[in-house]
Amino acid sequence: MAKNTTKEYDAELNKTIFDIKHQRTFCMIKPDGVMRGLVGEIIHRIEKTGLKVVAMKMLTPTEEMVKAHYPVNNEKWIVRLGSKAKSGLDGLSLSAKEVYGTDDEKALGENALAGLIQYMQSGPVVAMVVEGIQSIDMVRKLAGATLPFKAEMGTIRGDFSVDNPIVANVEGRSIHNLFHASEDTEEAEHEIKLWFGGETICDYSLGSDDIMYCKHY
Ligand code: TYD
Repeated sequence: MAKNTTKEYDAELNKTIFDIKHQRTFCMIKPDGVMRGLVGEIIHRIEKTGLKVVAMKMLTPTEEMVKAHYPVNNEKWIVRLGSKAKSGLDGLSLSAKEVYGTDDEKALGENALAGLIQYMQSGPVVAMVVEGIQSIDMVRKLAGATLPFKAEMGTIRGDFSVDNPIVANVEGRSIHNLFHASEDTEEAEHEIKLWFGGETICDYSLGSDDIMYCKHY
């Protein structure tokens, strides 16, 4: 886009830089994370990167909230869930049909979703808004891959969870993977509004902000 004046250009660029530095994401320590006493460990990992928690609360989600949180009416997302569930058998030389009775991704996804909705209401969670440079990608990286055995060591899921989605599906439950983090900007905006709409998001600086991502010399 053509810029009319230097001043206008600066203002626009400054806003872009500000938005990158102050990007917000939503994340949640799921019931298994709370019940295993991993709240401090997980928050510590977020804080250690230089990101900051700007809102936080503990609550037991209602069914209504869980259904508003996940895109439960989005068939594409449900099929993706089923496809991920199927990939839980990678390396086991077994098919989903042999273990679960079907390899239909929509059916697998629907079953996983039913377990997920129950699981997310099964106990308290810690919901957070986290802010900082590229926080969405950073917190996803901290979380690790959805399936515990695929999540790299060094990530929250890789270090602290172990479960298999097809086994979970057969048992009619969710996989227990400790942590949720928004996947992209749209999801982050939706989830922050859903869990913290109308509540105060704190505005403060960390002593390390300047050293980490400002020219302080
Ligand atoms: P998804 O949005 O695909 O992953 P992520 O949490 O990494 O963004 O899936 C949402 C949650 O669904 C996932 O964190 C755990 C649960 N889940 C199951 O319970 N069973 C399954 O087979 C899969 C694939 C996911």
